[in-house]
Amino acid sequence: MAKKTTFIGLLGFGTVGSAVYRLINSNRDLLQRKTDHEIQIKSICEKNMSKAVGVDQKLFTTDYEAIAADPDISIVVELMGDCPEALEAMRMALSRGNSVVTANKALIARHAPELFELARKNNCEILFEASVGGGIPVLRALREGLASNRIRSLYGIINGTSNYILSKMTAEGADFQAVLKEAQALGYAEADPGSDIMGTDVVYKLAILTMLCHGRFVNVDEIFCRGIAHILPLDIKMAEKFGYVIKMLGITKMHDHSFEARVHPAMIPVNNPLAHVHGAFNAIQYHGDFSGEGMLYGLGAGGNPTASAVVSDIIELSRNIQSQNRINLGSTGFSHHTLEAARPRDILELHTCYYIRFSVLDRPNVLAGITAVLGRNNISIQHLYQQGQRQEDAVPVIVFTHKACERDIRSALKEIDAMDFITQTTKIIRIEDEP
Ligand SMILES: NC(=O)c1ccc[n+]([C@@H]2O[C@H](COP(=O)([O-])OP(=O)(O)OC[C@H]3O[C@@H](n4cnc5c(N)ncnc54)[C@H](OP(=O)(O)O)[C@@H]3O)[C@@H](O)[C@H]2O)c1
Repeated sequence: MAKKTTFIGLLGFGTVGSAVYRLINSNRDLLQRKTDHEIQIKSICEKNMSKAVGVDQKLFTTDYEAIAADPDISIVVELMGDCPEALEAMRMALSRGNSVVTANKALIARHAPELFELARKNNCEILFEASVGGGIPVLRALREGLASNRIRSLYGIINGTSNYILSKMTAEGADFQAVLKEAQALGYAEADPGSDIMGTDVVYKLAILTMLCHGRFVNVDEIFCRGIAHILPLDIKMAEKFGYVIKMLGITKMHDHSFEARVHPAMIPVNNPLAHVHGAFNAIQYHGDFSGEGMLYGLGAGGNPTASAVVSDIIELSRNIQSQNRINLGSTGFSHHTLEAARPRDILELHTCYYIRFSVLDRPNVLAGITAVLGRNNISIQHLYQQGQRQEDAVPVIVFTHKACERDIRSALKEIDAMDFITQTTKIIRIEDEP
């Protein structure tokens, strides 16, 4: 019987693209047995030919349009990064009826409605398992294994750089800037780490997870986001003293008529399994209404783990193309016509416990001033801690609150920060006690 082949067009031959090439070549027989087809890379679009060393040069082109138009190619794999050409190439491929695999969280988070509609119209598919959690098959788990559940809540440690930095600060009591520099020297953080430490990377991934959990498109600008740059070793010590660990989280929760989607560092109880996810590892903890609690854990980035997710999508598409079994569900597990845009709940409506760090001049009546304003704003104190040691003429005052409303916290802090004994803007860390 003639050998059947699924031809792939690969766009981008960097960290992930070259790992996809290696995986397809080294697991060729396995992929053949799993798809009944030979998976073969027919062309590679790459502008930086220094990356093509040791690979058949005839495969390379800089013309992604030619790849999208090649009638032999049925799957276009986009791994160029967040650039206009990547979006253009995906549009071209889908418009011509070629299915697309991508790891591009930024483009999926921002352009999912348009890309899904293009795929639907042209009877092809777009899969993006690698866009969240690298080698962890979390999107497939939500789309298939947990398809029967309402996802009540999902907490993700989904950015390796911020998790590495917070883990190091926790283990060594080190300062944020020092750990960031070390992470950059070791290659765990980008030269420009903005997207990782400010939370933007997690926002993109959370937008995608929210789509798969609730069948809702969220505008990334409407996801509340705070980074980790303000976290001090003192915050980590205080967290530890009261039984918490600080983690950077992407959180979505379902309520009766609304849902939350927010990204910020949070204190979680030390006995929560997420507290033990360290370094570059990622984890996603979910609560399905029937499945109950579960957690997926693994390597969230790197060439090989990400290639594992990309090629799993290629396998799924190759099987679907052969059986003509198109998902037609917008790749989210929800019927296309039921997907709709929705706004997450306003952060001001959040009710949770708070850690508050005031920086005050060490003089009489300061505590009375702070507690009076908190009380007037319906905020009751669980623990109050004042460190004796002076820091540049200011001392920290730490408050752990009982459950309070974010709106009340903001209005209390606005009033307190205007008082003459406050030396720096007050910082808060939200506490997630009930995952
Ligand atoms: N690396 C990871 O661990 C990881 C994990 C999950 C998801 N992802 C996602 O996977 C995608 C690829 O990431 P990566 O780390 O492999 O990036 P990368 O190493 O920078 O590779 C991208 C490659 O595409 C090339 N390229 C960019 N624009 C091009 C264009 N218009 N035409 C031809 N070639 C072009 C780049 O060339 P130059 O070098 O000249 O720019 C580079 O060689 C991104 O969307 C990323 O967010 C990566």
